[in-house]
Amino acid sequence: MSSYDVIIIGAGPGGYVSAIRCAQLGLKTAIVEGRDTLGGTCLNVGCIPSKAMLHATEMLHEAEHNFAEMGLKGKTPSVDWKQMLTYKENVVGQNTGGIEFLMKKNKIDWIKGWGSIPAAGKVKVGDDTHDAKHIIVASGSEPASLPGVEVDEKTVVTSTGALELGKIPKSMVVIGAGVIGLELGSVYARLGTDVTVVEFLDTITPGMDKDIVRALKRALEKQGLKFVLGAAVQGTTIKNNKATVTYKLRKDDSEHSLQVDTVLVATGRKPFTKGLGLEDLGVAISDRGQIKTDDHYRTNIAGIYAIGDAIDGPMLAHKAEDEGMAVAEGIAGQHPHVNYGVIPGVIYTHPEVGTVGQSEDVLKKEGRKIKVGKFSFMGNARAKANFMGDGFVKIIADAETDRILGAHIIGPMAGDLIHEICVAMEFGAAAEDLARTCHAHPTYSEAVREAALACGNGAIHA
Ligand code: FAD
Ligand code: NAI
Repeated sequence: MSSYDVIIIGAGPGGYVSAIRCAQLGLKTAIVEGRDTLGGTCLNVGCIPSKAMLHATEMLHEAEHNFAEMGLKGKTPSVDWKQMLTYKENVVGQNTGGIEFLMKKNKIDWIKGWGSIPAAGKVKVGDDTHDAKHIIVASGSEPASLPGVEVDEKTVVTSTGALELGKIPKSMVVIGAGVIGLELGSVYARLGTDVTVVEFLDTITPGMDKDIVRALKRALEKQGLKFVLGAAVQGTTIKNNKATVTYKLRKDDSEHSLQVDTVLVATGRKPFTKGLGLEDLGVAISDRGQIKTDDHYRTNIAGIYAIGDAIDGPMLAHKAEDEGMAVAEGIAGQHPHVNYGVIPGVIYTHPEVGTVGQSEDVLKKEGRKIKVGKFSFMGNARAKANFMGDGFVKIIADAETDRILGAHIIGPMAGDLIHEICVAMEFGAAAEDLARTCHAHPTYSEAVREAALACGNGAIHA
């Protein structure tokens, strides 16, 4: 039993980043984690393993489709599934081990086990109760369930099961055309699985800029993914290791079913707060299960804070990290601020999608006067050479002030390119500021500049 300035419950990107910032600011800090390894959902079963699988299968796709044209002849690689999973596990191990090193380096105690809060200022783990002036709940999220769909993590799986299937399925239904569905659906489609994505709404990636949605759907269809949109899943059954998914088309109520080897349920995630004792403490929780906080991540109970997937806002690792730093700085008496208007979103499909700020549709609905500058990667020499001509950069600026309001990129390195625009937006830049910034040739980033030029007198290579 010990006494701390801060105890953080949960060592995901929110919790571990917060712990490091607390320690850097001179606060005696401990982190409680019930998993065997640090890093939370993101490092263990989320961002990192999924990106390893995306990378491996993207390499395969590249070898199968583009090597010959570049004069790289010879045997196309065959897939050693066991080794691919080992590679993924090694990547996870390197990253979770790295967080353990950072905890030691920053003199943060890792209290192993599942924590609860018996009273403000107290954290109980196993038989021990520890004192803390401040408690930060960073307990993350878990997959949302779907009525009539029972997950066994073998035939009907969440993203966690999908990242460790015993073999590559011949056929798969993905329920939900959101980020997980499209990323993991892409992985299996590239491995030869017949993938059908069944989505409740009439669009994939709801809420995203319509131009991006159209281009992404077309690109994924070209890679073999099939989409059934406007379909309400009624349920799944499992027989002889096969699953049957039944759905009704919303337009005419007609019922259909698909029999496949694997069903991936990817219909969103919900906050995970089980076992923390928040109800008994009287911590306010929203009807969506999110811990309610103010702008400084304080709950309604003094000394208890919450961040990351467990609270409101996009369920993204970098959002959790920013909140982790901000809550630590607030506890240390500083005045941090997270700008929720400039949180990028990335979908790691091929082509990749990077977006920040408002979509054209939302701005138009709000009655804003805007101008749109668009530039196709077909006009970008580097992209064309690298078989990455599909896609574009779209920048939206205020029609009068030229201030950048949003940007939407589909194409090579979109998830990296978007940050140039994030920085510009943080500084309140105008499209002309980007357009007048010299960009190295030949780089993908020239397409960003060209889109900014298109907001003014016109792109050069269009
Ligand atoms: P988490 O990462 O969920 O961590 C919470 C931790 O708290 C867990 O380790 C849990 O074991 C622990 N915990 C909970 N309760 C207790 C308790 N009582 N005692 C002790 N420990 C406890 N986001 C991105 O930004 N980019 C991506 O590419 C991306 N890819 C993803 C891919 C998949 C397949 C999934 C599922 C998610 C992905 N995400 C991605 C989302 C991202 O993983 C989450 O937004 C992020 O992990 C949230 O961080 P967090 O710290 O709030 O919670
Ligand atoms: P999501 O919210 O992105 O997508 C869920 C999809 O399922 C939506 O399109 C929704 O309309 C659909 N849906 C909901 N109920 C349905 C039903 N009954 N039948 C059919 N479709 C239904 O959630 P997802 O993909 O599960 O991801 C969870 C979280 O993880 C997201 O918040 C996301 O931010 C995060 N994540 C982020 C990644 C990234 O940043 N690249 C990668 C993977 C996950």
